[in-house]
Amino acid sequence: MTWSPFTPGVLADPANGHHELLQQCPVHRCAEFDPPFYTLSLYADLENALRDIETYSSQYGQGPRFTDPTGMLCDPPQHTFFRKLLQQCFTPAAMDALREPVTRLAHELVDAALTGPGTFDLHDDVAFPLPVIIIADLLGVPKEDLEQFKHWSDVQVAAMGAEDPTEFMDDQMAFMAYMQGHMMGRRQAISQGEDVPEDLLSLIAGARSEEGEFVPESDALSVLNQLLVGGNETTTSLMTNAVWRLLEEPSRWQALVANPDLAEAVVEESLRYDPPVLGLWRNTTRPVEVHGETIPEHTKVLMNYAAANRDASVFERPDEFDMHRPRKRHMSFGLGVHFCLGAPMARLEAEIMLQVLAQRMPDLRLLDSGSRIAPFFLWGRNKLPVAWR
Ligand code: HEM
Repeated sequence: MTWSPFTPGVLADPANGHHELLQQCPVHRCAEFDPPFYTLSLYADLENALRDIETYSSQYGQGPRFTDPTGMLCDPPQHTFFRKLLQQCFTPAAMDALREPVTRLAHELVDAALTGPGTFDLHDDVAFPLPVIIIADLLGVPKEDLEQFKHWSDVQVAAMGAEDPTEFMDDQMAFMAYMQGHMMGRRQAISQGEDVPEDLLSLIAGARSEEGEFVPESDALSVLNQLLVGGNETTTSLMTNAVWRLLEEPSRWQALVANPDLAEAVVEESLRYDPPVLGLWRNTTRPVEVHGETIPEHTKVLMNYAAANRDASVFERPDEFDMHRPRKRHMSFGLGVHFCLGAPMARLEAEIMLQVLAQRMPDLRLLDSGSRIAPFFLWGRNKLPVAWR
């Protein structure tokens, strides 16, 4: 078995490893990482594991390293408490209310790109600013702090997959100090009975336990952080990946231009084919036997969403990007109690962005495939040069 998430071929395109995992090694042990981790890849195995939270726990985080349980990065009942709290911000009505500001922002970003020389970077100029501006607004971050905010969001993600996470320590501390000041300022205003904006920040800063106490600061900060990390780079990657695949085969782009209603199907196929989060980890609470292999207790197990999305027993012709594919549940937002809370927001932003681009730049074409973002368990472009003239 030669697969490893760190080989140049798999890093360059994770799909290079899926066949091997699905057909020859549905339970893989990766000894190259500290701590070593197992990988599950078959769709049915992920379905079982993600639903069996007693065996595959999130109590030590969903990254490759063991972390303390904070905020939502844990099991019920604490997880349920924060999830219920946040759910009210992701209801269909809340998403409807976002439609207008997202559409306006998408047009503004495209207006700016249209004033340029005829070429621009789809990542830098459209796909990156759109989600970060929207989430920063919901978290009450002032506009002048946006660039800094985005930098910190990138650092959080880079640190998760880095060989030496300590190199990001200074930035992480600075970010925590910023968010702490920001959150505590709002909490103080709430305790003093001042009028505060009805946003995600007020919801989290003002959250109280059943005993009426504010929830611990560390949990509130962890939730804020997860929204930031979960909501930014992932949605940016969804947009760059989708445009990349459409422009790679210009007839796909032309199909969208002719029928912008296809945007919804494009977003779903892009999520299946190029998941922005290739996989996340669980932690075994007991030894588990899967396909004759025993995964020991207290071991990290990577849920390989990307490989499961190419499982031929679920998706016909899995390696074909087919925007007319009948809709079937892919794994790119996870499954079960931790299913992505922000999925409707990510879908809305990506669909609107694709429709606005198709309408305003019908001759859009790819200049270059750009380059991949660094963290090995994420998948997106950090550059995507395009031309509209
Ligand atoms: C294309 C964009 C996105 C992708 C691919 C994505 C993917 C995921 C995945 C795979 C999970 C974990 C599921 C699991 O552990 O089984 C997750 C959880 C989560 N996501 Fe997203 N996400 C995206 C956008 C967003 C956005 C826009 C937000 C919020 C603004 C968000 C907030 C969250 C939160 C809070 C969780 C934790 C849910 C829980 O533990 O109950 N995500 N996301």
